[in-house]
Amino acid sequence: MSRILVVDDELSMREVLEIFFLNEGHDVDTAPDGAAGVARLHEQEYDLVITDLRMPRTHGLVVLEQCRALYPETPVIVMTAYASTETAIEAMKMGAYDYFTKPFKLEAVQAVIDKALERRRLVRENRKLRAELDGRARRGGGIIGRSRAMNQVMDLVRRVARTRTNVLILGESGTGKELVARAVHEASERANEPFLVVNCAAIPENLLESELFGHRKGTFTGATQDKEGLFKAAHGGTLLLDEIGEMPLGMQVKLLRVLQERKIKAVGDVREVPVDVRVIAATNRDLEAEVKAGRFREDLYYRLNVISIDLPPLRARPTDIPLLAHHFLRKYAREFDKRITEITPEAMQRLLKYDYSGNVRELENILERAVALEEGPRITEHSLPPALRSTDTPAPGASAEAPGEVLPTVPADGLDLEAAVESFERGIIAQALERTGGRKKEAARLLGISFRSLRYRLDKLNMKDDE
Ligand SMILES: Nc1ncnc2c1ncn2[C@@H]1O[C@H](COP(=O)(O)OP(=O)(O)OP(=O)(O)O)[C@@H](O)[C@H]1O
Ligand SMILES: [Mg+2]
Repeated sequence: MSRILVVDDELSMREVLEIFFLNEGHDVDTAPDGAAGVARLHEQEYDLVITDLRMPRTHGLVVLEQCRALYPETPVIVMTAYASTETAIEAMKMGAYDYFTKPFKLEAVQAVIDKALERRRLVRENRKLRAELDGRARRGGGIIGRSRAMNQVMDLVRRVARTRTNVLILGESGTGKELVARAVHEASERANEPFLVVNCAAIPENLLESELFGHRKGTFTGATQDKEGLFKAAHGGTLLLDEIGEMPLGMQVKLLRVLQERKIKAVGDVREVPVDVRVIAATNRDLEAEVKAGRFREDLYYRLNVISIDLPPLRARPTDIPLLAHHFLRKYAREFDKRITEITPEAMQRLLKYDYSGNVRELENILERAVALEEGPRITEHSLPPALRSTDTPAPGASAEAPGEVLPTVPADGLDLEAAVESFERGIIAQALERTGGRKKEAARLLGISFRSLRYRLDKLNMKDDE
């Protein structure tokens, strides 16, 4: 429902428009001349203003001017009864959204009105997201999200930060494991001590031990100096053992000892020295399966897994997508010094429909690219990568108006029907959830299916983790 102001000295015109808007479910106020219209504007904000131009007392251009000054985001449509469009053009120059020449048929102008209201809704939605983003960024340690799953993650981060237990962070690549590890560190009393990261997969097996625990000069070829290991360097702080699933079994034994005794021994040294390091481990592997397969030590697994934080894939929490998209939009607009503040609904639908095998990192890359390419003030579909545009599904608007009639075309080299149907289903469900703020009952109603059926589909599409 929108709040609309109609300003016209002609009673019949006011009535026609009032009835039209009331029928559309909007709230309407009317004013019989420009001065009364301006008075209304001073009383409250409207989502749309429609004003006649030539009126007794105060001209419509004044209404327009006042509205632009008071509420720059409220679209104003002007009407003129005169064949000469001169003042209409003047009005456009002053920032009117559009103009109609009287007489007009309501059906003919409906599209313009709808578009103006849609635009208004979009601006408001964007503003809401930005405000939400500000609040969340301040509270969440840089972790953006509003899905139930991410709220739980942030809750857990705050709780484990107060302890010094080991934490295991699980999640697909790009889901934010490192970000979360850092947030735990920063929310803890170790925040002013070092936070170090070692990627267990990137370091050759024979060097990993010395990297972690250090070595004495002369222990092996190349060991020309004493070297301090990461555990020592992270003393008092936090060490993230990234991709722990790739750690060789031999190293796993040594790590387990360190975790148990809280002492380290450098390679080639005989002394053990105490260290105080909080260990956070992360992996995109199914560590339990690795244990079963004998590739990961069960005792180490239990040691690390005192508390685990599970980061769901982005496709399982579509309600995070708009917020994250705006977060990255803002980040890159600032970085590239561009004034882009909005994402069009069409582009957002594309973003919502995509399934992000690279998770948040992929969404970030998409936004970075879009900001770099975009010339206008908004992110449009055109600046999204082809992979998002070529999902063979009809535009959401079209499908809603004519279900079953808008058919995707089959490309010459064929398509995967199952995948296309699934992606369509996923996109539509994500949209419905987005539109209802994640309320499943309402989303089910929007989609004309039962709550139970929606739950089944969410489950099937692995979108179940979300509200
Ligand atoms: N919830 C989030 N809010 C804001 N930024 C996020 C979020 N999740 C991830 N990111 C960003 O996405 C990118 C990837 O995140 P990160 O490096 O933490 O993922 P990862 O799970 O460690 O990935 P990999 O398994 O590939 O190492 C980073 O730039 C990170 O800042
Ligand atoms: Mg990582």
